[in-house]
Amino acid sequence: MTSAERTKRIYERHPYPGTDLGQLSQKGRSFPSLKWMQAIGRPGRAVPERVLVAGCGTGVEAFVLRRRLPRAEIVAVDFSPRSITVARQLQRAAGSGRPITFLVADLTDPALSLTTGGNFDLISCHGVLSYIPKPGRALRSLASCLRPEGALYLGANGEATPAARLRPWLAGFGLAVDEMKNERRLRELLRLWDSLHDDELGELATMPSSYLASDVCGAHFNNWPLARWRAEANRCGWEVAGTDILPTALLLTIEREDYLPLYPAGCGAVAARLDQIRPAGFHRMMLRRAEAGGLDLAFASKAGQRLRWTGFYAVRFMRNAGHRTVKVVLNCPTFHLRFEWSLTPRQAEALRTLVASGVVSEGWIKLWTQSEEARRILWFWLGLGVVAMDAAAQRHRLSNEVECSPLLLSN
Ligand SMILES: C[S@@+](CC[C@H](N)C(=O)[O-])C[C@H]1O[C@@H](n2cnc3c(N)ncnc32)[C@H](O)[C@@H]1O
Repeated sequence: MTSAERTKRIYERHPYPGTDLGQLSQKGRSFPSLKWMQAIGRPGRAVPERVLVAGCGTGVEAFVLRRRLPRAEIVAVDFSPRSITVARQLQRAAGSGRPITFLVADLTDPALSLTTGGNFDLISCHGVLSYIPKPGRALRSLASCLRPEGALYLGANGEATPAARLRPWLAGFGLAVDEMKNERRLRELLRLWDSLHDDELGELATMPSSYLASDVCGAHFNNWPLARWRAEANRCGWEVAGTDILPTALLLTIEREDYLPLYPAGCGAVAARLDQIRPAGFHRMMLRRAEAGGLDLAFASKAGQRLRWTGFYAVRFMRNAGHRTVKVVLNCPTFHLRFEWSLTPRQAEALRTLVASGVVSEGWIKLWTQSEEARRILWFWLGLGVVAMDAAAQRHRLSNEVECSPLLLSN
């Protein structure tokens, strides 16, 4: 039996995250906000009309998206027939709202676009590719399902996932970790583990069987650093537009003025490098198709690229003494970030216009690229999620790692 078949068997036995409607309605807090997915993945685009939930399990992820997007057409697929049966039952029991189409389908199937109807604006794939032996196959078929201006939210295990150290430790007690065989013994050992650990997930010993069977035991794991997920995505025609850790981690380096070795590079490259220093247990990434355009700071207004105000920040302007500079305070409840910048009156005025209009003009780009300092502010703001690149407006594929040459940046 291949590891994909073994994985399917595990989910057939233990549909994820479970089968109890009462308990499932409490879940869904680990999915990122639609606002973040839209702002980073599809800046300036209208709310998605067609959404694919790729590897939906018993449907919690799809039901969360249904609540957020009551009018969208949602298709949700999983290769475990039992998970899909449970999802359909849960939908019938819940009863209200536009129905979600639940289908049995394998994400690695090159015909996925035909099975699902393709043409999606947004694909959500949370906690699935970590269990697929060749995730590149799934990344390719997902790419074929997306509209050019669409985006993929990908949630995948990182190097620091508790399972990475837990599994060899459990195996050291003679426990089978490739498939959950003795749940009582497993929970006993997890209680011991929990007493000495403070994992971000909480008490592992109290997790449902469906979690332990697939996320602790299991047939296959890709617990990869972000750099590896990014390389795999790039290989399959995707670019990483942003990650959940990027704003917070980048701000720390900016505050300590340690960011120089990171500069200038695109959001995906910076996030991957920061993850190498502080590995995450789970990555939340927004991906876009590479042919939609380069995502990095190599913009030239000639090529029609645009930057958009993401709307994550509230801005306050304060004139400094002598009126030579304006202090700008940006506050973002979504990322729990607050920082200040000292801008020239012209820059502050340009920012005010951007906040009001949502889109930068050609003059705006010129202003922010005429000096190294101004370029750096713009680079920070891209990483911190103040502005985002409008990929669909970019038809020119520019270099992935940015060169901030005046040639590229001026028009
Ligand atoms: C950990 S669960 C995540 C479920 C859901 N995304 C969530 O977060 O609630 C992983 C799911 O991926 C499904 N899966 C794994 N490999 C798959 C594949 N090749 N094609 C489709 N589904 C797959 C499993 O059946 C399982 O339901």
